[in-house]
Amino acid sequence: MVEKDPAKIERMFSDIAPRYDLLNRLLSMGIDKRWRTQAIRELAPANGLYLDVATGTCDVASEIARQGNGVKIVGLDFSREMLIVGKTKISGKPIRLCRGDALKLPFAGNLFEGAACAYGIRNFADLDAGLKEICRILKPGGRIAILEFTTPSNLLVKALYLFYFTKLLPLAGRIISGHREAYSYLPASVMKFPDRHKLKTIFENAGFTEVKVTPLTFGISDLITARKP
Ligand SMILES: C[S@@+](CC[C@H](N)C(=O)[O-])C[C@H]1O[C@@H](n2cnc3c(N)ncnc32)[C@H](O)[C@@H]1O
Repeated sequence: MVEKDPAKIERMFSDIAPRYDLLNRLLSMGIDKRWRTQAIRELAPANGLYLDVATGTCDVASEIARQGNGVKIVGLDFSREMLIVGKTKISGKPIRLCRGDALKLPFAGNLFEGAACAYGIRNFADLDAGLKEICRILKPGGRIAILEFTTPSNLLVKALYLFYFTKLLPLAGRIISGHREAYSYLPASVMKFPDRHKLKTIFENAGFTEVKVTPLTFGISDLITARKP
């Protein structure tokens, strides 16, 4: 499944929700936590309202709460089951959860100081529309930090990584999650996602300025930061 049917994608994430965190830690060997920490350091949250788009099980929302003084966070996702897992991790934190579609954010414009989205935008049925929505809800000057998987540019590293990513990861993911498609969808959707050279233009066209794309860990993941003018 690489077509971006929102109902199918929502069901897929709901199906794997109970094992999602475990698989994240195992399959990334724990690096994913470091990527989220780095992304939120770039966002530099302080005093005000922040949105975690496609919050899933709330790891990014929790990281914003950990790093930001005086912040309030809304974590939005369309998968009820992911949010149910996330809810168990946010007690006592300034985080509210909202079930909704990232392509039609249920918020007024110019509301948030900043927004983050980790490994969500690749799943959007319409990437341009999703990015424009994020831009719309930000206050002027508001910042974003977006994480998304990519593939390494070094050819040797890329060959080794692709073996892991397209052969071992889907197998391990299928065995542990019990889901036949989810961990084959992951590499397939990453391969179809625009590469880092196109991303800058895509973010600029969605209304952002100061777009910076930083490859993390040999370029397995990209961190995109930008600002609403
Ligand atoms: C790979 S998970 C990432 C979850 C979390 N951000 C993290 O860092 O672990 C992708 C999440 O995006 C959500 N998602 C995908 N498309 C969405 C959309 N259009 N609106 C809301 N949530 C969406 C899925 O339900 C899923 O929870």
